[in-house]
Amino acid sequence: MASDTLTITDNRTGKQYEVPVTDDTIRATDLRQIKVAADDFGMMTYDPAFMNTAACRSAITFIDGDKGILRYRGYPIEQIADQASFLEVAYLLSAGELPTRAELDVWEHDIRFHTYVHTNIIKFLEGFRYDAHPMGMLLGAVGALSTFYPDAKDVHDPRNRYVQKVRLMAKLPTIASFCFRHSRGLPYEFPRNDLDYIGNFVNMTFSIGGKHEPNPVLQRALEILLILHADHEQNCSTSAVRAVGSSGVDPFSAVSAGIAALYGPLHGGANEAVLRMLDEIGTKDRIPAFIEAVKNGGDRLMGFGHRVYKSYDPRAKLIKQVAYDVFEQTGLNPKLEIALELERIALEDEYFIGRKLYPNVDFYSGLIYQAMGYPTDYFTVLFALGRLPGWLAQWEEMITDKEQKIARPRQIYTGKDERDFVPLVMRK
Ligand code: SDX
Repeated sequence: MASDTLTITDNRTGKQYEVPVTDDTIRATDLRQIKVAADDFGMMTYDPAFMNTAACRSAITFIDGDKGILRYRGYPIEQIADQASFLEVAYLLSAGELPTRAELDVWEHDIRFHTYVHTNIIKFLEGFRYDAHPMGMLLGAVGALSTFYPDAKDVHDPRNRYVQKVRLMAKLPTIASFCFRHSRGLPYEFPRNDLDYIGNFVNMTFSIGGKHEPNPVLQRALEILLILHADHEQNCSTSAVRAVGSSGVDPFSAVSAGIAALYGPLHGGANEAVLRMLDEIGTKDRIPAFIEAVKNGGDRLMGFGHRVYKSYDPRAKLIKQVAYDVFEQTGLNPKLEIALELERIALEDEYFIGRKLYPNVDFYSGLIYQAMGYPTDYFTVLFALGRLPGWLAQWEEMITDKEQKIARPRQIYTGKDERDFVPLVMRK
């Protein structure tokens, strides 16, 4: 009779062990009973970069990497992107259900009336060089926000968590737009409570002299892009938010850790790296040489490949559709032609097929952001704005998960055995 267990035979001792299987996993701590000598620490798993390790149980996002499926709280990303607002998605990710009209009104109201930041944050931002990377500025400013809200440390109080989530959802766009204005040497455009979430962000970013003619097509395109970035289960930056948050620190500090992880070119920084790659390639006739360089390990095809998706990233498909809507408004981004040709060649080339490398969320998003008027080094800031509700939902799920405690992995020690200290005069 089949049982939900694993029988492990340790051939070093001939001993057998029965380990329970739940959700197609075994608990790593169940391996500690496997020892050679009685006083051994016991067996661990070794999984650098967590290639095959579930660190938590989560009900927020479901991904099927082979089938290219992405769902937020069970809703397919295609339907969410087509019908939801970004604040609806932010509510859904945290609350687990789509908001009623009344619930959405309260959520939107609370966020709309928390968009201002303490003016000292402006002084803080003015301390950065004019050419500071906006992700470095965002990272610093969000971490600094924790010093303005000492009450945020009470992470186990549900009402307090709600207040801090509202503050971060409301203030991140303000800080992000201030970073943009700082890099342009423009006066800050302050939040306006008569505008909706996306409209307010676009106005704070682009308005000159209080005037900015909104383009509803571009605003909806930006909202869809934020929605598509909203959560992605246990990616690098979300894992950083969970690990840092597991120490009990406030959510501003935990989110600043997520921003730091997202900054990296292998993660959220890839959308910026794609544009730099397309600039480096320059023209279609130079694509074959670039592909060869990638296959020889001399370069990476940025915006391609994914730890989980071994098929086309469903978000990339949707972003490609958004691109055409945007380019109808802004004019075709000339780099699109190179990106499409790069994709065509890569999808036919055994090197990429064999490694199941397909376009990911970052491959086309940068082309759209550029067409909307955002500078290349600002693309990852837009990714962070989109990912914030996911970070907050995952952070709260971790805080309220009875199985979780401070994240503290073990190691395989490969260093020196015990040895005596050598006084300086005796060192050769
Ligand atoms: C995001 O986790 C998430 O969900 C992330 C994200 C999210 O929403 O949070 O989806 C957002 O970060 C998307 C990924 C953005 N990054 C990039 O586009 C950077 C380029 N892609 C990679 O560097 C890479 O594909 C990763 C980092 C995305 C995934 O890397 P893995 O899973 O660790 O795979 P790997 O680096 O071990 O590569 C496996 C093989 C290697 O070849 P071999 O050593 O076996 O010969 O594939 C090759 C790699 O060299 N490879 C690539 C490649 N990506 C992997 N070769 C060329 N170009 C690439 N882009």
